[in-house]
Parts: sequence; structure tokens; C-alpha cells
Amino acid sequence: MANRVNPAAAQMGASLMCADQGNLRGAVVELDQAGIDYFHFDVMDGGFVPNFALSADAMEALRAASRQPFDAHLMIARPARHLDRFIAAGADWISVHVEAARDAHELKALARAIRRAGREAGAALSPATPVSALAPILEEIDFVCVMAVEPGFAGQKFIAAVLPKLDELAALILSAGAPVRIQVDGNVSPERIPDLRARGVSRFVGGTSAIFRPGAVLKDEVAALRRLLALSPAGAHS
Ligand code: DX5
Ligand code: ZN
Repeated sequence: MANRVNPAAAQMGASLMCADQGNLRGAVVELDQAGIDYFHFDVMDGGFVPNFALSADAMEALRAASRQPFDAHLMIARPARHLDRFIAAGADWISVHVEAARDAHELKALARAIRRAGREAGAALSPATPVSALAPILEEIDFVCVMAVEPGFAGQKFIAAVLPKLDELAALILSAGAPVRIQVDGNVSPERIPDLRARGVSRFVGGTSAIFRPGAVLKDEVAALRRLLALSPAGAHS
């Protein structure tokens, strides 16, 4: 009997660091009305990654513009120091990088703190980090943000070596019987979505190659992506 990893409905998110930074509220309202499932906030500290992106203040300012989940992707060092800011700003999902924690104990503590606040706890994996790093904390998290590009910049090329990593992660989740969702972040293009979905991915981050393409009409991009997801069968892993 084939089991199914992440049979949960697929969710299409918008990576707001790729939106018009001079009109973020307008983009959130337009995407919300177009039916986007969630908003991905890339947070960067210039140290953990050599770039800056969105802030807790920006999240707070946009919170009233949509009731859809706000997904905080923390590409920062010492995330424990900043969780409260993002919880207060209205984050519904918070992912911290495995590479930003000293060890599994710290990762567990971070995940438990996020869950204690009633939010979904996520672990983000940079391309070079093995799936095995998640084994000790699988019971403590709600989703894994699998980076398909090096964290820090939009517009990069998908790292194909991440594909077998997704299969390994799906198998780990299945064997653990843990209800953990798989999110993919980085160069998620329409062309890649069916294959990613078949590998058990249920959360997609739409950036410059999916939603915010040059000259894109946001509502049309979202409608096309939702149709594509509806036609893409979820992964079945025996
Ligand atoms: C990169 C961010 C991604 C990025 C996605 O560090 O985590 O969310 O914005 O943008 P594209 O789809 O252009 O890679
Ligand atoms: Zn991201």
C-alpha cells in the first residue's frame, strides 16, 4: 500500500523580498485578492547571509493587509534573540536555519519556543546541509524549508543536487510518521512544480521565477500557479 507524504493540499506562497519594495502593501493586497495561500518574509542580518531583506517592522506594518499566514524565514545568526519580535509582528510560521544553531538541543529549544507561542515551527536547510541533521528534531517541527539556492539572494539558479535531498527527506518523514510538511524555497519555477509536488513538497515559495517575473500581472501568475498545483499529483512514497 503506497503511503503518501504530505497529502495536505499544496500551498503557494509569495516571496515578498521579490515584490516591489516601494509598494509592499499594494502587492500584499493584490496577491491576497488573487488567492495566494501565504506570504514568505525573507529576513536577513547581513552576517548569517551577506544581504538584508525584510524586517519585523515591515511584517507588523503589513499584518493588517491580509489574513493569510505570514511565513518568516529567518536567515539570521542567534535566532533565539529575535523570535519574540517576529511573534509579536504577527508571524504564523517561523523557520530558523539548522546552520544557525549550535546543536540539536538549541534547535529543539527554538522549535518549542515557537510552538509555545502557538505558531508553526520550521527548520530551514541550506543546500549543503544533510537531511540527517533533522532526524533529532523531526517531532518538534511542523515543516522543513528546503533551500534550493544558497540563502541570501533571489534570482539564483536551482541547485539540482537538492532533488535527491527532497526524496531523502520525504522518506525520513514517512518512516518517522511525523506530520511534517516540506517547503521548497529558491528558483521555484512553474516548470519545476509538478516534479517537486511528486516528491512530496506541499509548500512552494514563489519568487522571481514564478510570481514576480518581469512584467508579471500578479493575479494572472497566481491563478496559473494555482491551476498548475491543482493538476500536480502529490508524491506517493511506498
Ligand atoms: C533566498 C530566499 C528566497 C528567494 C526566492 O534566500 O530565501 O525566498 O526570495 O526567490 P527566487 O524564486 O527568485 O529564488
Ligand atoms: Zn526564503
